[in-house]
Amino acid sequence: MPEAEGTPLCRGDEIADGAARGFAVGASKLRILVARRGDSFHGYVNRCPHVGTPLDWSDDEFMDRERRFLMCATHGALFRVDDGLCVAGPCQGDRLEPFPIAVRDGVVFALAEFAGDYE
Ligand code: FES
Repeated sequence: MPEAEGTPLCRGDEIADGAARGFAVGASKLRILVARRGDSFHGYVNRCPHVGTPLDWSDDEFMDRERRFLMCATHGALFRVDDGLCVAGPCQGDRLEPFPIAVRDGVVFALAEFAGDYE
């Protein structure tokens, strides 16, 4: 597959509805996450805007107890899945940095043409 079409990460059905998975992409192994809500998938750099730590407290554990928000493991900030806005916690009003993804034929891709911007 041409690099411009992206790097396959996983099948969409390998991310449970209301959950997220972490990946390392590009030569620098940038940590990203892909969150799913229904048929919508959202990619973000896995870096909290508060002090820059990864959000997950264990592998692929990104969500709060109700699986409503992405939650930072360090100080508990809560982020909306749909747009990455922090709605509670020490960085309220800040946002997760979006990472461009695409879903084609049921497969989630990291868009390689953008990955270089983060290396
Ligand atoms: S590092 Fe995420 S809330 Fe502090």
